Amino acid sequence: RVLILDFGSQVTQLIARRVRESGVYCEIWPFTATDERIRAFAPRGIILSGSPASVHDENAPAIPDAVFALGVPVLGICYGQQAMCRVLGGKVETHEHREFGRAHIDITEDCALFRGTWARGNREQVWMSHGDRVTSLPPGFRAVAVSEGAPFAIIADEGRRLYGVQFHPEVVHTPHGASLIRNFTHDVAGCKGNWTMAGFRDLEIAKIREQVGTGRVICGLSGGVDSSVAAVLIHEAIGDQLTCIFVDHGMLRAGEAEEVVSTFRGRFNIRLIHRDASDLFLDALKDVTDPEIKRKTIGRLFIEVFEQEAAKIGGADFLAQGTLYPDVIESVSFTGGPSVTIKSHHNVGGLPERMNMKLVEPLRELFKDEVRDLGRELDIPESIVGRHPFPGPGLAIRIPGAIDRDKLALLRKVDTIYLEEIRRAGLYDAIWQAFAVLLPVRTVGVMGDGRTYDQACALRAVTSTDGMTAEFYPFDMAFLNRVASRIVNEVRGINRVTYDITSKPPGTIEWE
Ligand code: XMP
Repeated sequence: RVLILDFGSQVTQLIARRVRESGVYCEIWPFTATDERIRAFAPRGIILSGSPASVHDENAPAIPDAVFALGVPVLGICYGQQAMCRVLGGKVETHEHREFGRAHIDITEDCALFRGTWARGNREQVWMSHGDRVTSLPPGFRAVAVSEGAPFAIIADEGRRLYGVQFHPEVVHTPHGASLIRNFTHDVAGCKGNWTMAGFRDLEIAKIREQVGTGRVICGLSGGVDSSVAAVLIHEAIGDQLTCIFVDHGMLRAGEAEEVVSTFRGRFNIRLIHRDASDLFLDALKDVTDPEIKRKTIGRLFIEVFEQEAAKIGGADFLAQGTLYPDVIESVSFTGGPSVTIKSHHNVGGLPERMNMKLVEPLRELFKDEVRDLGRELDIPESIVGRHPFPGPGLAIRIPGAIDRDKLALLRKVDTIYLEEIRRAGLYDAIWQAFAVLLPVRTVGVMGDGRTYDQACALRAVTSTDGMTAEFYPFDMAFLNRVASRIVNEVRGINRVTYDITSKPPGTIEWE
């Protein structure tokens, strides 16, 4: 096992992800972890993360003594490298030549950290983000790679098995960064690399049992990947101590509510309360056209209904959530300054402040694709595990303007045809999200011998890795043609189909 000490970098979780991908179990702890705790964890290797801080700051985060006292391999990344150099007797300076973004390093010596991936004489692309840099090495170290802005881009003390990199091997912009981390966990730290998602499942089950004891847990289920995986995992851990609440706001896709109920009650035998609150939601939304008011109304009602149902059960101690790692970072401001609200995202995430319950969040460290792997490990059907993300406010934000049951029914028909064709063409898994939007305009068309004056719809499909940026999917024209004619022929009320080719940014994925 590997210990990652977090000094506050935005991308520390990516280090964990790369370590897991190398088949090695790891945990992330804050740098304030005590020496006793670190010793008790008995890591085979330790990775020190980057940080927004500078080693020259008055309260610069310090490396716990146990890190070097244990005698295990250590890899310092960016700030981790600088902090390591400083404690071991090197020098770090703030330099005018800051490096941000893509950079190149020249490998000047061979080293166990990149054996088999890079070799002396190579020039390699990496991702840098630093203002400070090491200017003099501690005794025992040698430089094995240099960059324009950092004379010590990679340093090594192979005797003590201490390594430092100025760049970020954990981000995808460092193309061979994952191999570097793998070399560290396998070749340097000697981990076997036989850890799997099954291991994660067992460990999380044990952790949930320990946290919950004999307490009772409630969990909001939406039918999406995250809450489904969280619910099944928690159910495996504590069985009927878990009750799921499915608030059906009436704005799901065709057949989804039924599928949620039959899967979780039927297949998994999970206690599930299905509250059909569609009248309540649709009444409240009747005249609402402003996107933010729509979102806030849905968020508020969701919490109200959830609380009513939770009160009926009475006496639950814990609230379970399928919070993922990107949800955690997205809620933190990247700049530290005031950030603008683009949309008020609604999901069960709004509940904790209100309900004052302890949280169970077994997916907090995972990324979406890892959650899907875990779901497969738990035998959740592929139709749920592989499902595209679906926003909490549902189809309401895919109908600009006021919504009603008729518009929802129309959109469901369009959406069903579109997704059917995407699946038939074998494209579903290549796309991050695909959906239809019902436009609030009517346009003139001609069908047979007659004039039509019906609504238009837009189709959207994007690729993305995390939803933060996205590009439209380049369907071939024959595919779009097929979908458009099916929609106009089969859905009465729609006579025009458009395809949205906006990327994010400047667009967002959803229309509202
Ligand atoms: P945008 O439209 O902001 O969406 O580019 C980014 C991703 O988030 C999803 N989304 C939501 N998910 N509650 C959610 O749980 C919401 O209120 C919400 N709004 C957007 C969207 O579908 C995309 O995957």
